Amino acid sequence: MRYALVTGASSGIGAEIAKRLDSLGFTLIITARRADRLEQLAAGLRNPARIITADLSQRSECLRLYELTKDMHISVLVNNAGFGMIGDFDDTDLERELSMLDVNCGAVHILTKLYLKDMIKQDKGFILNVGSSAGLMPGGPLMAGYYASKAYVVSLTQSVAEELRSRGSRVKISVLCPGPVETEFNDVANCHFAVKGISADYCAEEALKGLFSGKTVIVPDAGMKLTAAAVRVAPRRVVLKVAGKMQRKKLD
Ligand SMILES: NC(=O)c1ccc[n+]([C@@H]2O[C@H](COP(=O)([O-])OP(=O)(O)OC[C@H]3O[C@@H](n4cnc5c(N)ncnc54)[C@H](OP(=O)(O)O)[C@@H]3O)[C@@H](O)[C@H]2O)c1
Repeated sequence: MRYALVTGASSGIGAEIAKRLDSLGFTLIITARRADRLEQLAAGLRNPARIITADLSQRSECLRLYELTKDMHISVLVNNAGFGMIGDFDDTDLERELSMLDVNCGAVHILTKLYLKDMIKQDKGFILNVGSSAGLMPGGPLMAGYYASKAYVVSLTQSVAEELRSRGSRVKISVLCPGPVETEFNDVANCHFAVKGISADYCAEEALKGLFSGKTVIVPDAGMKLTAAAVRVAPRRVVLKVAGKMQRKKLD
C-alpha cells in the first residue's frame, strides 16, 4: 500500500489534493480539527482512509500525528493546513497570530523534518508544502504575519530541495505558491479577494503535476506566474506599495 498524508484536509485545497491522491491509488491519512468534515471527505473516497483529528498549532499534536503514522512509510506528505489574518500589525490579535505561525511554519517545519528523515532512509518520497504567492513577495502590508509565514515556507522548502539535489537523493520536496484560490480561507481571515481566484480543484491538479515532475516552486495560475516574474525585477518599495493597496481592497 502507498500512503499519503494530507494536513488541513477538511476543506479547500487540502480536500481536493486528498481526492486526487485517492484517485491515483494512494491510501489516505487525512487530518484537521473538524472530524465531521474529514468523515464526509472519507465517505466520498474510493479507498478506505484513516482519519486523525489534530490541532497542528500544538507541537505535541504534530509529534502525536507522526508517532501514529511513522510505521506506514508515508510516500507523500502534504503540509497544507494553514490560515491567514488581516489587519494592521498593531491591531491584530497576538495569540491568534502566534497560533497562525505555529500552524503555517511550526507544523510544516516539524512534520517536514520528521517524515523527511524516514524518506531519506528509503531514498524515496514526496513532500508538498503549501506556501503561497505571498511567500514570493517582499512583504504584504495588512497581512504582515501571514506573508512572513509563507516566505518561511518557501525559503525552508527551497533550501531543503537544494540539500537533497546536491546529494543526489530521490526524495523530492516542493512548495506550492498559489495566488487567490476559492476556498474557506477568506471566511477564516475575515476578508475577500481583490481579484477572482482559481478553483481548489485546478490548484490541486497543478500542485500534484508539479510535485510528481520534481518542480521545486509550483505556481499554478498564469496571472500569478507573471506577477512573480515582475516582482523579481521591480523595486521592493514599489511592490510593497502596490501589495498594500491590493490588500486594502480585501477589506472594502
Ligand atoms: N485560498 C487561498 O487563496 C490560498 C492561497 C495561497 C495559499 N493558501 C494556503 O493553502 C492552504 C489551505 O488553505 P485553503 O485556502 O484551502 O483554506 P481553508 O479552506 O480554510 O482550509 C484550511 C485547512 O487548514 C486546516 N487548519 C487550520 N488551522 C488548523 C489547525 N490549528 N490544526 C489543524 N488544521 C488546521 C483547516 O482544518 P480545520 O479547521 O478543520 O482544523 C482546513 O482544513 C493554507 O496553508 C493557505 O495558507 C491559500
